[in-house]
Parts: sequence; C-alpha cells; structure tokens
Amino acid sequence: MKKIIINGGRKLRGDIFVSGMKNAALPIVFASILTADECTLENLPNVTDVNLSLKILESMGAQVTRLNQTTVRVDTRHFLPVNTCGDMVSKLRASTYLLGAELGRFGEALVGLSGGCDFGVRPIDQHIKGFEALGAVASVENGCNHVVAGKGGLRGGSVYLDIASVGATINVMLAAVLARGRTTIDNAAREPHIVDLANFLNMCGARISGAGTSFIKITGVEKLHGCTYTIIPDMIEAGTYMVAAAATGGRVTVRGVIPKHLETVTAKLIEMGAGVDEGDDCITVSRTSRLNRANIKTYFYPGFPTDMHPQFGALLATADGTSVITEGVFDNRFRYVDELVKMNAEIKVVGRTATVIGKPGLTGAPVKAVDLRAGAALIIAGLAAEGVTEITGVETIERGYDDIVGKLRGLGADITLRETFADNIEKAV
Ligand code: EPZ
Repeated sequence: MKKIIINGGRKLRGDIFVSGMKNAALPIVFASILTADECTLENLPNVTDVNLSLKILESMGAQVTRLNQTTVRVDTRHFLPVNTCGDMVSKLRASTYLLGAELGRFGEALVGLSGGCDFGVRPIDQHIKGFEALGAVASVENGCNHVVAGKGGLRGGSVYLDIASVGATINVMLAAVLARGRTTIDNAAREPHIVDLANFLNMCGARISGAGTSFIKITGVEKLHGCTYTIIPDMIEAGTYMVAAAATGGRVTVRGVIPKHLETVTAKLIEMGAGVDEGDDCITVSRTSRLNRANIKTYFYPGFPTDMHPQFGALLATADGTSVITEGVFDNRFRYVDELVKMNAEIKVVGRTATVIGKPGLTGAPVKAVDLRAGAALIIAGLAAEGVTEITGVETIERGYDDIVGKLRGLGADITLRETFADNIEKAV
C-alpha cells in the first residue's frame, strides 16, 4: 500500500510546470476511435486515468505506441467495437465516451457502466437524450449501456441539454461528427476541454463551430483523417499548486498555463489576500500575511470550477473568519470534509453548503484520499499543517496528478511517497 508522508509548515518556493489536462486528454484519446488513421497526441499527462484509457483502446485492437514520456501514437485501424463490460471500463468516468465514439464510427456501442469519483448519483440521461436526438436507440442490457443507430445510420439532430453537462456535450459531439446532416447542441458545456476536443476533431477534418459557447453546431462529414495534436495545460492541476502556495505562505510560479482558464481561481485568491501576478503563460502566487475568509459557489464554466472546491475547502480552513462553500454542480462533493476535520479543521455541512470556521493551525494526522480532488485538498492541508500527515488512498490521487510528490519536493516541501510491500517493509518510492 502506498502512503504520502508530509512534514508540514514549510513555505513552497520556486517554479512548477503543469502537465497536459487530464479532462481534455481523456475525450481526445477516445475520440481517436473516430478515424482509422493514426493520431499523435502530445502533452499527455502521465496519470493513471489517461494510461488506463489507452489500455482500454489497446484491449479493443488499437495500436498504441509511446513515443516519449508525454506523446503517444494511436492507430485504431484494427479497432473492434467489442463488448467492453470489463472492469477497466468501470474504473473511470471517461469510459462513457466509448459510447459516443463507437456509435459515431460503427453505428453501435455496448459499454459497461462507467466509474469515477463518487459524488452521489452520476447519471447519463443527458448523454442518452443526445444520442436519441441523432436517431439512436438506447437500452441497458446486463449492466451495460447499449446504443444503436437507426436505419440508415445516425442523422443530425437538435438537442437541448437540461444540464450543461461536460460528458453529455462531449458524447454528442463524438456521435455527431460523422452523422449525416447538421447537429446543434444547446445549453452545451463551455469548459476549455470542450474547445480542445473540438479543435482536435476539426484538425481531423470535422466541421464543428461554437465550442466554448453554449450553442455548438456540427455538420457531419464522410470520414475523419488522423492528425497530430497537443493537449492544453491542466487548469485544475495549476490551480491546485496556486492554492498550495497560498496555503503555505510561499511564492510559486506555475508555468505553461493559460491564465484565462484560471480567472475565477485567481480572483478568489486575490479576494482572500494572496498576491497573484499573471504573465503570458504563467501565474505567480505569493502570500505574506494571513488570508481572509471568502465564499465560494461552484458552477459550470465559466463559473468557479467544482474541481477546485476541495482544495479551497482546505485553504479556507486556515483563513481568518467564517467562509461558506456552496456546491452547484454535484450532489455531494463534501466527502473530503471528514478527513479535514481529523486535521483540526472546523467545517459543518448541510445539504450542498459547507460552513468553514477558519483557524490558524491545522494539525497533521493520518487521513485518506476518498476521491481525486479530496486527495489534493489533504495534501494542501498537510503542507500547511503543523506536524506529520500520512495520506492513504494515494492511487486515487495518481488518477489525476502527474508526479505531485516530485513536483512539490521541487518546491521545497518535505513530502515523500512510501510503499509498504508484502513483507511489510516500507520504502521511499
Ligand atoms: C466531468 O465529469 C469531469 N470528469 C469532472 O472532473 C468534473 O467535475 C465535471 O465534468 C464537471 O466539470 C471528466 O472530465 C472525466 P457533468 P462529468 O456531466 O462529465 C449531472 C475531476 O476531478 N448530470 O458535467 O461526469 C451530474 O450528475 C473530475 O477531474 C446529469 O444529471 O460531469 C452532475 O451533477 C471529477 N445527467 C452534473 O450534471 C447527465 O446525463 C455535472 O456533470 C450528465 C450529468
């Protein structure tokens, strides 16, 4: 079993380069199914969710060649839309994108129920609504989602999403790019990774416009060709390190970012009293005095990102005053709270709202990462706390953070990754 051990109380100082965005890489990896040509994907983060998505493609006949640490070539010439009800699919939420990609290229998909972080119910009714708007028929068979194009194949259609769902927007785009005719998606998600997917698909010959707005138009084409594409930087990884800098009172420059993607995070840190300086592709965060309280309301992009909620929960727990966090996207994103309370945080949750009573000192404790961003929050809390914090559930953190321990050590954190082996000997990894 792996553990992250942090000896807290040290200020973070230095530069950090963010990796490619996990939530952009995942749809683009699955979108490569739509062309029988080779696609070369650059700036892929080395995280388990992305590596698992590549393994799923390989298990279905794709050839995946790793060209270097962050670049792979995917050849889906011999890809077969076999029944993917295996356990790999159940390990990540993004496996739902197999539905749209296989429906788009082959006219049918049979995919096991997906997994992902547990925030309460995570239905795919909006995905299905989109497929049905293209004439597909959806059903659930033996615990798998089954979608089949109507006679004559998919035809363009218009769908209004009841929720600006990232996954549903992605899946309808994947299904529509090869459908006959024009598709429109109204109330579409506007996240930067939606734009990245559209840019990738257009590089392959698709005809998508309006990505990044709430109204996306797609004109179906006969076929797509391969391309070489570079994934955008991970705004959530960058935001996580920005919050860590503010939490420890240090000075950190995150490099290789798109500052516009982090506008809400930057504004909130400034509101709390941190110093934030923006460059063309970097942001420097520093803190010399105590942080002020602030309220957070998460919402669909360009609202405050829900994926930065737990990290700010940890930061507000150390600020002066009482803050309120309202979760506007998921039913229950507060599973991190119980773990922070073990570190002397004072947080009360009622429904989708948490009241955080800030206090100067968190204290190190043994805690567990119960989901990806909850794990990031515990690392931030451990860096700021007095004493030693031991974090288990490290595999959850490795799903979405590329070498977070190495990157934080590079900023001066006293943090190690230790693994206990079968013979009960614990070693630094
Ligand atoms: C994506 O999840 C991300 N995951 C999540 O990031 C992120 O938190 C979320 O978008 C919101 O930005 C990946 O990209 C792999 P949604 P997704 O569909 O697509 C409800 C992380 O930490 N909904 O936008 O599942 C849903 O229950 C992860 O990197 C329906 O009701 O999010 C939720 O309440 C965590 N019906 C809300 O909409 C549907 O058909 C937003 O979900 C679809 C969604």
